Amino acid sequence: MNQKWVTMRKDLVSLILKHTVTSRRHLTPELALHLVTPDCPLWRATEDQVPFKDPFWAFYWPGGQATARYILDNGDLVKNRKVLDVGCGCGAGIIAAAKMKAGRVVANDIDDYAVTASEMNAELNDVTIETSTENLVGDPCREFDTILMGDMFYDEEFANILFEWLDRLTADGKTVLIGDPGRHGLTTKRRDAMTLLARYQLQPHSCMENHGFTHTTVWQLNK
Ligand SMILES: C[S@@+](CC[C@H](N)C(=O)[O-])C[C@H]1O[C@@H](n2cnc3c(N)ncnc32)[C@H](O)[C@@H]1O
Repeated sequence: MNQKWVTMRKDLVSLILKHTVTSRRHLTPELALHLVTPDCPLWRATEDQVPFKDPFWAFYWPGGQATARYILDNGDLVKNRKVLDVGCGCGAGIIAAAKMKAGRVVANDIDDYAVTASEMNAELNDVTIETSTENLVGDPCREFDTILMGDMFYDEEFANILFEWLDRLTADGKTVLIGDPGRHGLTTKRRDAMTLLARYQLQPHSCMENHGFTHTTVWQLNK
C-alpha cells in the first residue's frame, strides 16, 4: 500500500464510520455491516448534504442479500473456490464466501468507498478479503472460477454489456451467481438462460428502501 492510499483510506474509513451504523437488519443477520439506515441522519439528507457520490455501498441491495444468504446456506458451492464479487458494494457476498471457506475471496468495485467499506465489514465479521478497484467488465477473469454479481441489472444497456461478458465467462466453465429482485435489465429472455436457485422474502425495512420490491432471487447462469 503506498502512503497516498494509506492517508486517503484513513479519510474514507472515518467518513464511513461517521455516517453509518452497524446493522444486522437484513437477510443475513449473521453478518454485521456498516450501513446507512433510517437511524442515520444521512437517510434524510438532501442530495447536496451527502458527502459521497452515489453511495451504493452504504446500502445492502436485495440482489446482494439474496446471493449472500444463498452462499451462507449452501457453503459447498464456494468451499475452496476462487471467488470474485463484481460490484461488491458493502462486500456482504464476498464476506459470506469467506465465511464458507472459499479458497480466494476478492471484492471488486470501481468505487474506492465500496472496497473500503467491504474491508471494514470483513474486519467486523472476522474474515480477511482481497480488494480490487479495477473495471473488470470484459476481463477473462482467469484467476477465478466463481463470479458473484448482486443487483447489477438496474440499467438495461449496462445489463446487456454485463450479460455478454458473463456468457463468455460461463462458456469458459465458470460458475456465475446472480442476485436480483426483478430489475428490468433481467429480462424474461435472460431468465430463460438461467436456473433459479432460491427466492427469499425481503424484510419490511428492505422493501421500504427498494420501492415496492417484496422478494429477491438467486440465479445461476446455465453452462
Ligand atoms: C446496486 S449496487 C450493488 C452492490 C452489492 N452488490 C449489493 O447487492 O449490495 C452496484 C455496485 O456496482 C458497482 N459498479 C458499477 N459498475 C461497476 C463496474 N464496472 N465494475 C465494478 N463495480 C461496478 C457500483 O459502484 C455499486 O457499488
